[in-house]
Amino acid sequence: MNIYEGIQKRRSIRSYENRPVEKETIEKLLKAGMQAPSAGNQQPWEFIVVEDKETLEKLSSAHIYAGPIKNAPLGIIVLANEKYLRFQQYWQQDLAAATENILLAAVEMGLGAVWMGIAPDEDRMAFIKDFFNLPKGVEGFAMLAVGYSSANKFEDRFDASRIHYEKY
Ligand SMILES: Cc1cc2nc3c(=O)[nH]c(=O)nc-3n(C[C@H](O)[C@H](O)[C@H](O)COP(=O)(O)O)c2cc1C
Repeated sequence: MNIYEGIQKRRSIRSYENRPVEKETIEKLLKAGMQAPSAGNQQPWEFIVVEDKETLEKLSSAHIYAGPIKNAPLGIIVLANEKYLRFQQYWQQDLAAATENILLAAVEMGLGAVWMGIAPDEDRMAFIKDFFNLPKGVEGFAMLAVGYSSANKFEDRFDASRIHYEKY
C-alpha cells in the first residue's frame, strides 16, 4: 500500500479484535510518529504506551467521547514536553502531525485506530496530567485507541467547491 492509498483508506476505527498488538508493531507506530515534521524540527513529542486493561478502562472516562479506548488492546497517549520547545506556539500543530503519522502507519499495518482529542480542552488536559502524574511542562495532546480490525468504509470527501485557483 502506498501512502496515498493509506490516506484514502484511513478511517476512525472504534472496535477491535481481542488480540494484542506486537511490540515491534507498536515501535513502528511510534517511529512513524517521531518522523513527523515539526516547527524548527523541535520534535516536542513523548508517548505513553498503555496495554493494561484496567488503565485503558479508566482512561475511557477522560471525556464523553473517549469510550473507544476501553475496547482497545492498545492506547497511545501523545504528549508534549515543553523542554523541547523553541517555537512554543506551534506545539499542537507538531503533535497533530505526529498523531496523523501514527494513524496512517496503523492503516499500513492492518490496524484500526481513532484519535481522541485532549488539548486544547483544559479539563481533558487536567485529567491526563493527574492520571499519569505528569511532571511540570509535560501535557497531554491526544489519546489513540489502536487494535486489529477489518472494519473500514471508504468515504469520498473530495469537494471541488473547496478549491480556489489563483484567487478566492
Ligand atoms: C482533533 C480530533 C479529535 C477527535 N476526538 C475524537 C474523540 O474524542 N472520540 C472519537 O471517537 N473520535 C474522535 N475523533 C475522530 C473524528 O470523529 C473523526 O476523525 C471524524 O468523524 C471523521 O471520520 P474518519 O476519521 O473515520 O475519517 C477526533 C478527531 C480529531 C482530528
